[in-house]
Amino acid sequence: MRQLFAQDVQTGLSANPKRLSSRYFYDERGNRLFQDIMGLKEYYLTRSEFEILTRHQAALLHLFRSRPILAEESQRQVASVAVEDHQEGEDNAFELIEFGAGDGLKIKVLLRHFLAQRASFRYVPIDISADAVNGLVADLRATFPELETEGVQDEYFKALDYLKTRSQVRKVVLFLGANIGNFNEVEAIQFLTSLRRNLSPDDLLMIGFDLKKDPSLILAAYNDASGVTRDFNLNLLQRINRELGGDFNPDHFQHYPTYDPTSGEARSFLLSRKHQTVRIAGLDAAFEFEAWEPIHTEISRKYDLRTIVRLAQQSGYQVVQHFFDRQQYFVDTVWRVGRE
Ligand code: AVJ
Repeated sequence: MRQLFAQDVQTGLSANPKRLSSRYFYDERGNRLFQDIMGLKEYYLTRSEFEILTRHQAALLHLFRSRPILAEESQRQVASVAVEDHQEGEDNAFELIEFGAGDGLKIKVLLRHFLAQRASFRYVPIDISADAVNGLVADLRATFPELETEGVQDEYFKALDYLKTRSQVRKVVLFLGANIGNFNEVEAIQFLTSLRRNLSPDDLLMIGFDLKKDPSLILAAYNDASGVTRDFNLNLLQRINRELGGDFNPDHFQHYPTYDPTSGEARSFLLSRKHQTVRIAGLDAAFEFEAWEPIHTEISRKYDLRTIVRLAQQSGYQVVQHFFDRQQYFVDTVWRVGRE
């Protein structure tokens, strides 16, 4: 892991324009800062998705435990859905698999409702971080002693491979929190297509997308008044200092978020405030920064419904249903793996 980090930093800081991957935000301090971000008044994403899961918990359970049959549709953007009424029994069992364990706050809303309705399901959080998975599973076992749950520490697709050998139960994969926004268009299609190939016909996928909205709201979410997001972004440089022996002075860099309403890409940069050279002992290298030269650190892409529907089609899924918060800031959309 440290080897890969070193390699990516070397490549990214040698590139023109310079870049560092947002996947490296999440060390221990980064995870703490992200928790703080989720509580910020400017960061509407978490609140919006929490509202969606709360408002639509019953409809979601109904979808997850039945097999949505799509009506033949060509004109309309979103297929209307006829959902087979479910009978109690084995057929309605499902495995709820979550990519990225998170802190459990949002998923607890669903789990509580599903358990109260006596749904037959198992909850499987997957994360690359063992700490994240183990922490969540321990917390859930304490909160819901009757919940069947097993965490898997691995990369998403490797974990799915393992889960395929373990059970034949229909899968519902959750990819929440607008994490899909970290991919550009090509990466998103590649990711979703590989995911589909790892699933079976009738399996479901629910993805959280942040929607296009007033750019001032989006920019505020990535430039909060208290400076938590700035610290989160700058932590990338401090992580390089800690793990690779860098001598970045965070005061000499400026957090700078942008939003392009055409592509929907919110991008974050760190700008070098002056001409400077930074040494990284662990790489045995030095990197020169021109005054105001940017390092690109993150894409948080915002979508509209037309683009979401197109993304589903391009990746081989059928759209089943969209679930919104009242302000329509965010959507959790349910897709189905088609029968080929
Ligand atoms: C966790 C990737 C969804 O892009 O909104 C929050 C991360 N970055 N503030 C996002 C993040 C800056 C977040 N995601």
